[in-house]
Amino acid sequence: MSKSVYVKTYGCQMNVYDSQRMQDVLAPLGYAPTDSAENADLVILNTCHIREKAVEKVYSELGRYRDLKVERAALGHEMKIAVAGCVGQAEGEEITRRMKSVDLVFGPQTYHRLPELLKQNETSGKAVIETEFSVADKFVGLAQEQVRHPTSRSVTAFLTIQEGCDKFCTFCVVPYTRGAEFSRPVVQIVEEAKKLADQGVRELTLLGQNVNAYRGPAVNGTQSRLGTLINELSQISGIQRIRYMTSHPRDMSDDLIEAHGSNPKLMPYLHLPIQSGSNRVLKAMNRGHTTEYYMKIIERLRSACPNIALTSDFIVGFPGETDAEFDETLDIIRAVNYASAFSFKYSPRPGTPAAENRRQIPEDVKSERLARLQNLVGAQQSAFNQTCVGLTLPVLIEKPGRQEGQMIGRSPYLQSVHLDIQSDALAQIVSAKILAVGPNSLSGQYTPETQQGVASI
Ligand code: SAH
Ligand code: SF4
Ligand code: F3S
Repeated sequence: MSKSVYVKTYGCQMNVYDSQRMQDVLAPLGYAPTDSAENADLVILNTCHIREKAVEKVYSELGRYRDLKVERAALGHEMKIAVAGCVGQAEGEEITRRMKSVDLVFGPQTYHRLPELLKQNETSGKAVIETEFSVADKFVGLAQEQVRHPTSRSVTAFLTIQEGCDKFCTFCVVPYTRGAEFSRPVVQIVEEAKKLADQGVRELTLLGQNVNAYRGPAVNGTQSRLGTLINELSQISGIQRIRYMTSHPRDMSDDLIEAHGSNPKLMPYLHLPIQSGSNRVLKAMNRGHTTEYYMKIIERLRSACPNIALTSDFIVGFPGETDAEFDETLDIIRAVNYASAFSFKYSPRPGTPAAENRRQIPEDVKSERLARLQNLVGAQQSAFNQTCVGLTLPVLIEKPGRQEGQMIGRSPYLQSVHLDIQSDALAQIVSAKILAVGPNSLSGQYTPETQQGVASI
């Protein structure tokens, strides 16, 4: 009998990847993906634990699904509720204690066992909680299902190559929810990338909590670093663009910086979080590098690839952060000049060292700092987009636009570009002259005869 599964995804791109793989694993059991919870037989919340509000959002969502479950039961339909992801891993049984209507709780390393867990729940009639198991098994299990039941239909795809983190920044839960660093073997990644290329994928984003800490076993018995892996993946002819995220400044190794200079498939766009511009704060965060070290990396990247655009993450109001230290963060933003950035108010996470710090910053100070930082970054982002006007950029055509005869693509800098072009351009990289900047996208003109241009900041 055919059933339906609704997966709601929070958090990072690794959760997006995992959600797709859960759908692959459920396909042989007759579960078809649906985009609304209303009629779903199974609802999975793939959760994130990175900041406080994320957890509270999960509990309030669960309240809504509990009501829906009761309504549906009254009509004679059964609906199962599952909590996956980092909140599942961190909270475990606490979730079923707070929310009796939840049937399954499982962590990021257990997705390949989903069919078995569902069965256990069916047979026992009791909530099933599963937060153990090895990450190596996860990828072997998921990769098999993905090959048999591909769900990817788009020209861009995520591919997780590394999971977990050994860095233990003092503010962060990830090392606790995703476990130790693990790198998938090169052959497994190449095989998955080839399958994706066969399915029509043209742009690949390699994912990992610390993607550039990648050290996967290669066929010749050595360990492959990320630069080498990227060069190997770029041999696959269907794959025309490669990106990776999220990187740590400490792992920007020579081979990777070199690849930015020599590999034309590697996009000139890098998300390289620094978090703070103060060396004292960076030390208290246990980031393991200074601002000078970060600037040196940026300099080397720009000399290897002059048109590279950079983005970052920032945390404001880390415990003990003074006004002067916050100003240093603004200074580094001015010094780097970002194409965009994500910024967050520090959120104390249970079990992390910074949460125990007694010098917590008041909420209103955090809000004020965040607004100032976002103003600055917003201005840099607009300026960056403006520099693209007049340039001819290579645009990967992704999907139809709202109007007939219009398509939407993406630039090397992840900007959406709207242009008038026939729909048979789908999945192709075309040249487009950028004409204007809108609130969330650029508009361009298809220029078939021109050479591909580059933008510089
Ligand atoms: N591995 C990546 C980041 C993963 S988490 C890195 O090292 O850069 C994504 C972002 O969430 C972080 O870069 C950080 O800016 C933010 N973040 C993590 N923990 C946080 C916390 N406790 N409060 C506020 N922001 C946080
Ligand atoms: Fe979290 Fe730091 Fe690891 Fe990034 S490097 S996932 S911020 S502990
Ligand atoms: Fe969130 Fe887990 Fe990703 S905490 S950011 S979903 S690794």
